[in-house]
Amino acid sequence: MQHFRARMKLVSIFSALMASTFATNVSTVYQFPNGTWAENIAAMGNGSLLVTTLDTAQVLIVHPQGSPASSSVIATFPNATGALGITEFQADVFAVIVAKLVPGNATNPQSFSLWKLDVTAKGEGVKVSKMSELPDMAMPNGMAALNHEMLLLADSTYGNIAAYNVSTGKTEVVLEDPSLAANLSAPGLQLGANGIKFHNDYVYYTNTAQALAGRVRVHPSTGRPNGFFETARDSTFNGPDDFAVARDGSMYVCAPLAAPLGDKIHHIELNGKVTTIAEGGLVVGSTSSTFGRTEKDNSTLYVSTMGGFGPDGTAKAGGRVIAVKLH
Ligand SMILES: *[C@@H]1O[C@H](CO)[C@@H](O)[C@H](O)[C@H]1NC(C)=O
Ligand SMILES: *[C@@H]1O[C@H](CO)[C@@H](O)[C@H](O)[C@H]1NC(C)=O
Ligand SMILES: *[C@@H]1O[C@H](CO)[C@@H](O)[C@H](O)[C@H]1NC(C)=O
Ligand SMILES: *[C@@H]1O[C@H](CO)[C@@H](O)[C@H](O)[C@H]1NC(C)=O
Ligand SMILES: *[C@@H]1O[C@H](CO)[C@@H](O)[C@H](O)[C@H]1NC(C)=O
Ligand SMILES: *[C@@H]1O[C@H](CO)[C@@H](O)[C@H](O)[C@H]1NC(C)=O
Ligand SMILES: *[C@@H]1O[C@H](CO)[C@@H](O)[C@H](O)[C@H]1NC(C)=O
Ligand SMILES: *[C@@H]1O[C@H](CO)[C@@H](O)[C@H](O)[C@H]1NC(C)=O
Repeated sequence: MQHFRARMKLVSIFSALMASTFATNVSTVYQFPNGTWAENIAAMGNGSLLVTTLDTAQVLIVHPQGSPASSSVIATFPNATGALGITEFQADVFAVIVAKLVPGNATNPQSFSLWKLDVTAKGEGVKVSKMSELPDMAMPNGMAALNHEMLLLADSTYGNIAAYNVSTGKTEVVLEDPSLAANLSAPGLQLGANGIKFHNDYVYYTNTAQALAGRVRVHPSTGRPNGFFETARDSTFNGPDDFAVARDGSMYVCAPLAAPLGDKIHHIELNGKVTTIAEGGLVVGSTSSTFGRTEKDNSTLYVSTMGGFGPDGTAKAGGRVIAVKLH
């Protein structure tokens, strides 16, 4: 642990020099209209992508293999204002966090619910149903499946990670650590635990206010800790949002804050090395990412964006899905 942390200081100097020298091929898959904030993204086994939007409570499906790629609304949620984390937890069954927020009050408890999108019935459309209200959570944001029965939700306001049992519909806090905490006294970004993924018995996470990424080994059936919390910080790292984990356990983290703070995608390797792999241009306002799941696109990182922050702090364009080819 200490070694891992100590290493970060050296790495931060090194990576500042290395930043933005990495050549990647970045292209637009789909441009959404103005006002669309693409918040989170999940790849389907059949090659399509599911994208949640924060400005409207819906899930869009994007078909990247078409030329041009196409998109349509696949699910809407009644009486709600936006959608956040999305994850597959059984084959072709996805869970989605849905928000019903009072404008200007993003931390209003009891305004979130969990919904199920079942796309298993081919050709018969999508079955959309409510799984539960989430009364014990203040701001569920990122979400990952631990297994078919348990979901993990990062609460950005309470600064912890809760496990949701699909059978009981109940949540219970399973991960608590200073590295997950929000900073409710910060004048700017206050969000703690934000993005979350589960890979090879490790829960990976980002903390937006503390500008760090971390991981902890957990018990694969409960999500409770089974090791130390390891964290990576870097001087180039600001306002990290959601991310993807590659097969080798490294992270591809979106940093949507306006340049020069963010507008970057960082690669964090297991040895602690942090590199900026893409910056500015199409990458502005990136919110989350996922690897494609077909043979053709399993080394393509698909990224959702909110369009980039303008000088007044609002979106300067419609969000997108972009593709970052890594090989
Ligand atoms: C980048 O990808 C595009 C679309 O797949 C392709 O047309 C172009 O040749 C690629 N450019 C490089 C430098 O690989
Ligand atoms: C994947 O499945 C969804 C849901 O059945 C369907 O709408 C979509 O067209 C499929 N995508 C491809 C590329 O076949
Ligand atoms: C939407 O909210 C209104 C007012 O709270 C309520 O009357 C209505 O039943 C709700 N509709 C649904 C589908 O939940
Ligand atoms: C936001 O929601 C909380 C909890 O319901 C409430 O205490 C607070 O007054 C609300 N703030 C605003 C600005 O509406
Ligand atoms: C919270 O933010 C304040 C103001 O930026 C800062 O002084 C403080 O160190 C932060 N606390 C933590 C725990 O990061
Ligand atoms: C989830 O709830 C079911 C039904 O009560 C229970 O049998 C199971 O052990 C629970 N799973 C976990 C990981 O707690
Ligand atoms: C991508 O798919 C190919 C073909 O199935 C496989 O050989 C390769 O290992 C996969 N790569 C990754 C990163 O999953
Ligand atoms: C979208 O918003 C941008 C920035 O405000 C503006 O320049 C552009 O004209 C808008 N496009 C449409 C189609 O409204």
